[in-house]
Amino acid sequence: MTKFRTSRELSKITTHVLQEMKQKGDKIAMLTGYDYSSASILDEAGIDVILVGDSASNVMAGHVTTLPITLDQMIYHASSVMRAVKRALVVVDLPFGSYQGNSKEALHSAIRIMKESGANAVKMEGGREIAESIDRILSAGIPVLGHLGLTPQSINKFGTYVVRARDEEEAQKLKEDAKFLDEAGCFGVVLEKIPAKLAGEVTDSINIPTIGIGAGPHVDGQVLVLHDMLGINQEFSPRFLRRYHNLHDEMIKAFVSYIDDVKSKDFPNSKEQY
Ligand code: KIV
Repeated sequence: MTKFRTSRELSKITTHVLQEMKQKGDKIAMLTGYDYSSASILDEAGIDVILVGDSASNVMAGHVTTLPITLDQMIYHASSVMRAVKRALVVVDLPFGSYQGNSKEALHSAIRIMKESGANAVKMEGGREIAESIDRILSAGIPVLGHLGLTPQSINKFGTYVVRARDEEEAQKLKEDAKFLDEAGCFGVVLEKIPAKLAGEVTDSINIPTIGIGAGPHVDGQVLVLHDMLGINQEFSPRFLRRYHNLHDEMIKAFVSYIDDVKSKDFPNSKEQY
């Protein structure tokens, strides 16, 4: 069995620790988490960052996109995670519609997340086009994680989930946006589904950590969606996804055994009653 260090053996992760990890070349391990029980196991295993992603809209609520999830629902998930976590840094996605276009509303949304869930930071999709919102939120002392490349909240603009920034123009814009996020004061940036070479160039050109998903190895950390890496969700199989377990099949086995035991009257037995 793999020996893991429990959260009690490791010290609390802050945005400053992530910055030091980049400087030392220590990779940052981030996974999504949406509920108390999973977050408590993630923290115990020693994960550095838990992202309460708006992918909850897909994997928890069954929506096709991340667009429908609300601020209240994100706060519910984030609060559940916060009740479990002792060590990991917890970052919460600002959901679609809660920050684009109106920086006052963006600040209000970010403050609600921080006050009502107790989380450590927020994540926002986009670059210079959301500059005003990022600036206001940072000015209130709320750490911001950027997100560039494939930004799922813009799926209706992209029309597809294919790799982004393959052409020179989009790659150039992404590099400029990453520099902007660094200079604005964000503590890191997620790079989603972009060419590995470009992700490496961005990582070398900015001071803050980059965290990749489908962005290759030349980044400062990696993130995956919990349900995808555990193999609960079998429908999603992009090239970048490494499955660490086939929990779908394990759960089916357990459920079928339970159903059989109930139907055959094997459960409960004489020791499983009062
Ligand atoms: O919502 C999410 O899970 C994310 C990750 C894919 C980075 O934003």
